[in-house]
Amino acid sequence: MSRLLITGGAGYIGSHSAVVLSKIGHQVVLYDNLSNSSRAALENLDQIVGQHMPFVKGDVRNTELLASTLASHSIDAVIHFAGLKSVGESTDKPIDYYANNVQGAISLLQAMQMQRVTTLIFSSSATVYGNPQYLPLDETHPTSATNPYGRSKLQIEEMLRDVAKSDPNWRIACLRYFNPVGAHESSLIGESPTGIPNNLMPYIVQVAAGQQATLSIFGDDYPTPDGTGVRDYIHVMDVAEGHAAALDFLSKTNGWHAINLGTGNGRSVLEMVDAFEKASGRKVPYRVVARRVGDVAECYANPHKSDQLLGWKAARNLDDMCASSWQFHKATGLAVSQ
Ligand SMILES: NC(=O)c1ccc[n+]([C@@H]2O[C@H](COP(=O)([O-])OP(=O)(O)OC[C@H]3O[C@@H](n4cnc5c(N)ncnc54)[C@H](O)[C@@H]3O)[C@@H](O)[C@H]2O)c1
Repeated sequence: MSRLLITGGAGYIGSHSAVVLSKIGHQVVLYDNLSNSSRAALENLDQIVGQHMPFVKGDVRNTELLASTLASHSIDAVIHFAGLKSVGESTDKPIDYYANNVQGAISLLQAMQMQRVTTLIFSSSATVYGNPQYLPLDETHPTSATNPYGRSKLQIEEMLRDVAKSDPNWRIACLRYFNPVGAHESSLIGESPTGIPNNLMPYIVQVAAGQQATLSIFGDDYPTPDGTGVRDYIHVMDVAEGHAAALDFLSKTNGWHAINLGTGNGRSVLEMVDAFEKASGRKVPYRVVARRVGDVAECYANPHKSDQLLGWKAARNLDDMCASSWQFHKATGLAVSQ
């Protein structure tokens, strides 16, 4: 079992991964500047795992603090979730995105090099495929970026590839997540965006709860079965378990690896609305508005590589994703009567 540093460990995917990794016996240290998360999430994490997880409040751009944390906890491997993740915001604030994401990754690599920690899992994204040239998306699909967020992920992936080439001690996995949704079964942790959500599932949840009047569906004239956009939604606990499998894989293999974490199933916006209504018993009123610039018709994974290399497949279904999202929202006390 390893001693792991999880950057961004108080956030949505990081906290679920911390639970999974800790439950199977890894010793987890969390590192986060709490810019998009809270201490309450950390307390809930402790409650789920039944012990206190060491936490260091810090920015990943603070190389010295990272290096001293790696040393003082004798860390063997790092899982790097910390970063900014909104496509829209990245277009308005590209400097913040390159500073947090790219500069943050460089700082982390410097600290790891200083302390001779050479195993790293990086949170990448299906956004690195740009506009799909074919579907399903496998890892050999050409990469490109259509916004600063995507470009920051791509730049980090390429930097990591160079690092792995420079020294055979490095073991690096770039996990390309598709669309993580859902929450831990305890409903103690989940996705809680501040303000108006950018992603479909949290938006649907807020409409079902009566916090938003209607869901805006951006276009119903795409070349898809019902005309609405199709994405590969994956349960966040499956994504978390993918990290445990990747860590195991890296204990046996060196080099740089890009691996999709997706289900391989594309779901349309209307399918998601329907599934959520069934799981929650609530209505999700919607209206169709104009397409959003930059949106693609369809995006879903070819999941074969993760199956072959990691022995990992997504196990949870759409109902699990919707029901756990709704349960988490209700548990936070925000659901109003309808
Ligand atoms: N959620 C998605 O749909 C999705 C999809 C693909 C990839 N990703 C990537 O996965 C990672 C985790 O995403 P998430 O959904 O859990 O996001 P999140 O915002 O919930 O978690 C990110 C965490 O990183 C912390 N953080 C941000 N900048 C930091 C910095 N400079 N120093 C230290 N901590 C910092 C935040 O406080 C937050 O707790 C991100 O890198 C994101 O780009 C997410």
